[in-house]
Amino acid sequence: MKKSKEIIEPIGSWKKTNSCGELRKNDIGKEVILMGWAQSRRDHGGLIFIDLRDREGISQIVFDPKDSTEAHKKAHIIKNEYVLAVKGKVVSRLAGSTNPNMPTGEVEIKAKQVKILNASDTLPFNIDDKIEINDNLRLKYRYLDLRQSKMQRNLRLRHQVCMEIRNYLNSKSFLDIETPFLTKSTPEGARDYIVPSRVNPGKFYALPQSPQLFKQLLMVAGFEKYYQIVRCFRDEDLRADRAPEFTQLDMEMSFVDRDDIFNLVEEMFAYLFNKLFKIKINIPFRKMDYQEAISRYGTDKPDLRFAMEIINLTEIFDKSSFKIFEEVIKNKGEICAIKIESDKEFSRKKLDDLQLFVTSFGAKGLAYIKIKEGKDFQSSIAKFLSPEEIEKIKLKTNANPGDLILIVADQEKVVYEALGNLRLKLAKDLNLINYDKKEFNFLWVTNFPLLEYNPEEKKYEAVHHPFTAPLDEDIKLLDTNPLKVRSKAYDLVLNGNEIGGGSIRIHNNDLQSIIFRLLGIDDKKAEQKFGFLLQALKYGAPPHGGIAFGLDRMVMLLAGASSIREVIAFPKTQKATCPLTDAPSEVDQKQLKELHIKLDLPH
Ligand code: AMO
Repeated sequence: MKKSKEIIEPIGSWKKTNSCGELRKNDIGKEVILMGWAQSRRDHGGLIFIDLRDREGISQIVFDPKDSTEAHKKAHIIKNEYVLAVKGKVVSRLAGSTNPNMPTGEVEIKAKQVKILNASDTLPFNIDDKIEINDNLRLKYRYLDLRQSKMQRNLRLRHQVCMEIRNYLNSKSFLDIETPFLTKSTPEGARDYIVPSRVNPGKFYALPQSPQLFKQLLMVAGFEKYYQIVRCFRDEDLRADRAPEFTQLDMEMSFVDRDDIFNLVEEMFAYLFNKLFKIKINIPFRKMDYQEAISRYGTDKPDLRFAMEIINLTEIFDKSSFKIFEEVIKNKGEICAIKIESDKEFSRKKLDDLQLFVTSFGAKGLAYIKIKEGKDFQSSIAKFLSPEEIEKIKLKTNANPGDLILIVADQEKVVYEALGNLRLKLAKDLNLINYDKKEFNFLWVTNFPLLEYNPEEKKYEAVHHPFTAPLDEDIKLLDTNPLKVRSKAYDLVLNGNEIGGGSIRIHNNDLQSIIFRLLGIDDKKAEQKFGFLLQALKYGAPPHGGIAFGLDRMVMLLAGASSIREVIAFPKTQKATCPLTDAPSEVDQKQLKELHIKLDLPH
């Protein structure tokens, strides 16, 4: 076998005339030069066929010894993923050999000359969308994984989304302004990635969890409308929709209220969907109070593509003889249910599975009532249910014979978390979402509480971040009942995914200090951490607000992908590692010494 350097030829003066995906019937007769990768080679005795692939598609090349013995001879040694330049003529495919599944399937290129521009070792996996490849292998050879057409499609979509976002925001006079990566801790609530400073021994930068403080400073600086498509860094537990470094579309505006931001964002999405998919989406988006979202769907990011709402039965069990319910009501807990309509596969095993599922969210159990004809029913708590209670339950849940009612009784947080997650699980198990409909269900969730109580740390924490403004009418409650104070924060939810979040900010230094104190950040600490912002708020800060979208999440949903890793060119694993580069990795002693860092590793 020849060594690769013996068969490789320079590209010389050849220029690509067309992409591999664009030739059609009306190109027949043209002399073309195509360049790309050999996707596959089929040797049919006299004729050799090679599918040549580039980012635009695939063209079939035919090597016929009658056209060129030289090219035909070379075609014998071409293997998958060799890089080729082919000079030839576009011809019609013979009747019966056209391929309707291929955009170029009516034509082929009769090769007159071929250059092997590079050889390729046998790949660790085939470039084929249809085969399952181990995730780690995909990431180790990401540059090969990215050759797959689905990955090419996803990254192209990502590019188009960014381009259209820029087009839209530029047309609305937004300015794209960069903010630093080597900075100070930003307050989004995750752990920081920190970077040691060599020239300032013992001091560290933090990589930004978001450009939050800088975009506010840009408003103080008078830029009025800012956006950036920007990398953010958060050291947090990773999931399918969370990466340690991810991209935000970050925006901020001055002299606005919530409605101005809602309108702008809705228009932006309408523009995007029209430009990208020719889809008309309905605006304005639906809005829902945080409290309503929790009580009806058990989550602040409800998926409204299906119903199955949570139904509160607490009142009905006011005088229950069932010890557990009695106890829950005494402790100001709640008793709530969801209903599976005409449940056919009602079985012990399924109920056990569902029970196990809710206990993973802290619920102590899952009671059930299977409604039958007339006054008949079957229930795990049958002996504690009076006929009146059963009738009231049926009325409240609007239950019919065949329906199954599942009940959790506990503290509010547990009930809603358990039933909210059960609702999502059942939607999956019972195929309640019609994926063929390609529905894009947007929802604004508004009026979040400003604060929540952290019982472990015994202090209040900001539900969004500490710069979020309280609702004007709730400011008076800051002194008396801080947990009742609602904020001017909002999230945008798409099909049950939080794709963005933002708020109107506090632009008044005094109010900002009050909030810091409520959060247990005393003046000294506030000065240390955010002194620069507090100072800026004293120099004529305009009223301002904004929002940031998880770009990866948005593109994931638009691409119909199941993880944000499918729309990030070089993502990290669940353990925040990069199998391609082997990052993170050890550094030289010399580097550590320069940074005055000594390692103290666990054994
Ligand atoms: P927030 O923290 O809600 O707000 O982030 C905004 C959006 O970013 C996405 N997101 C993530 N995507 C992938 N991986 C992650 N680890 C990750 N974390 C967040 C989500 C989320 O809705 N500064 C504020 C915004 C503002 O107030 O204007 C902020 O960062 O889609």
